[in-house]
Amino acid sequence: VKGSAGIVGGLAMGGVSGAQNQGPVRIGSDIPYKPFEYRTAQGKLTGFDPAMAQAIFAEEMGLEYEFVDTGFDTIIPSLNNGNFRIIMSAMTINEQRDQKVDFSDPYFVAYQTVAILQGSDIDELSDLRGKTVAVQKGTTGEAAAEELKKQFDGELTIDSYDQIPGAFNALLRNQAVAVINDNAVNAQYTQEQERIVLLKGEGVAAEQQGENAPDYLTLTVEEYGIAFRQDDDEFRQRVNDALNRVIGSGRYEELYREFFPG
Ligand code: ARG
Repeated sequence: VKGSAGIVGGLAMGGVSGAQNQGPVRIGSDIPYKPFEYRTAQGKLTGFDPAMAQAIFAEEMGLEYEFVDTGFDTIIPSLNNGNFRIIMSAMTINEQRDQKVDFSDPYFVAYQTVAILQGSDIDELSDLRGKTVAVQKGTTGEAAAEELKKQFDGELTIDSYDQIPGAFNALLRNQAVAVINDNAVNAQYTQEQERIVLLKGEGVAAEQQGENAPDYLTLTVEEYGIAFRQDDDEFRQRVNDALNRVIGSGRYEELYREFFPG
């Protein structure tokens, strides 16, 4: 495990690993990101991540926990500053982030996908050349858009929004022709807004998974993990064991069906 990297100053080292870890486990998350983390009309926090937190911390570890709503773009520095102990925010495990945090084992597979408006003139990926796409700032959707921009020799405008609803508002107002974002969240928008559909086509998932791949276009295959500070390895291992018990016991399957029916 990486010991030396990071900006763990006196406060973060002493304060965070010590006193601040006594109370409930504080979980940083950018809300709303339905169906992973969002509030019901009554304001109650729900979603796959809160349900997994309940299973891991309350049911398996006997620990209290609380979610701390925080911006996604600064969520890693915020973790390392001690504002919360872990991140559960549909966060993709990647090398860049792995330099700054440590991840649990993966708990979800996701793809970058392209949401468009029904009846728009975007029929394939190359139709995005010269157009504007909307993404959430600091996400792998934004990174996928940057990659596309390179392929288009710079002929793509990327509008980055602090939260995903901002990106979808831009799409619905014709300020962008597409939202590049995680499949399950994009799929949620297609269910709630009949004007929104997913761009179809074969993508990287098809190359990896053949017939089992989804029928919408996939730009990447990713996995979500729980993120920890790099000086919190003992806790990371305990949480990881609990995560694996949740997966192994069938509890995971139950929660999966609840939040991803059909
Ligand atoms: N999986 C993507 C990433 O890690 C998007 C996550 C956004 N999460 C959120 N709760 N807003 O970059």
